[in-house]
Amino acid sequence: MTANATSSSSKDRIVIFDTTLRDGEQCPGASMTFEEKLEVAELLEDMGVDIIEAGFPIASQGDFEAVHEIAKRAGDGVTIAGLARAISGDIIRAGEAVRVAKRSRIHTFVSTSPIHLAHQMRKTEEQVLDIISATVAQARNLVEDVEWSAMDATRTPIEYLVRCVDAAIKAGATTINLPDTVGYAVPEEYAAMFRQVIERVPDSDKAIFSTHCHNDLGLAVANSLAGIAGGARQIECTINGLGERAGNAALEEIVMAIRTRRDVMPYDSRIDATMLTRASKLVSNVSAFPVQYNKAIVGRNAFAHESGIHQDGMLKNAETYEIMTPESVGVKATSLVMGKHSGRHAFRSKLKELGYEVGDNQLEDAFKRFKDLADRKKHVYDEDIEALIGDEVASAAE
Ligand code: KIV
Ligand code: ZN
Repeated sequence: MTANATSSSSKDRIVIFDTTLRDGEQCPGASMTFEEKLEVAELLEDMGVDIIEAGFPIASQGDFEAVHEIAKRAGDGVTIAGLARAISGDIIRAGEAVRVAKRSRIHTFVSTSPIHLAHQMRKTEEQVLDIISATVAQARNLVEDVEWSAMDATRTPIEYLVRCVDAAIKAGATTINLPDTVGYAVPEEYAAMFRQVIERVPDSDKAIFSTHCHNDLGLAVANSLAGIAGGARQIECTINGLGERAGNAALEEIVMAIRTRRDVMPYDSRIDATMLTRASKLVSNVSAFPVQYNKAIVGRNAFAHESGIHQDGMLKNAETYEIMTPESVGVKATSLVMGKHSGRHAFRSKLKELGYEVGDNQLEDAFKRFKDLADRKKHVYDEDIEALIGDEVASAAE
């Protein structure tokens, strides 16, 4: 198991590294304005995110200015990171952008897999090892806190990955990130990679290990949690899972998975989960990326029930069909959606909520008419129910 290299974590605390403003923004069509980025960063900080990757300072003047301003405004409870390729100019620019923060990090990366070395980098393994040593040392001269990432780690032979991580730690990296850049790994494999690297690198206890998972096979959250089982203690993620292609691991899912299943994952984060829904709405608005209705935690159906059996259970005891409360993630209340699958119990409860007290005969009649309506209409709104009950019953509200 990894010992932690900074005071910001302990063995059972998971460090949350949010990259909505960097990897999230790399998603086609999701770019944000300067002001929008400041607003997102402020909310992430308030929510308790440990590290905000605010952008890629060399990418553009606008990105540099946003990272710099976020770094300037950040308090001492959050670290602001800027991304840099393994290029001297990138590292200098990232250092300039983040150094104004009370806590700053340079996050530098290089590809390590054979396919990237041969086709993207056109470098040998030995050349890449030299690059890692030189660039991590350069970053370490600028800031105390340096993260190094092995891009495409999950398609890198373990022996070579161990040599790369060893070189990065020797050069001063304090966090080692082993990304599943192309979303290729499965959980057992991802956990095993961390176990092996941590076991084989002599000074692995000098760094915190980090997960960074993409969702190409829909496994980003499962893989991130597997990485924790393998010894990682930082998770890189984005609000709503925003990110390149199928996106990154979703912050809200990770936070609530860990919190809800502490019985099997004895960890926690600092995140104030009651802010998750707000964060999801803000990021959806500024990135113009809608949240799918059935998205875990923050989708509009995450706490909605339509079937009669479920509604009946929910009215008796919410724990029958909800594993967390809506309030715990910032949703006001569970919603029992009235539709053709709803039963009498929920129908009576809805009438009561609307102010109607009905006898058994009236209920039967109204319920039958409600079912007929629900068969014809996709959505049955409160007004529809009020209209159908009409003159038939006396309104308790009058
Ligand atoms: O997916 C990836 O490998 C990345 C790196 C820059 C960390 O985003
Ligand atoms: Zn990524």
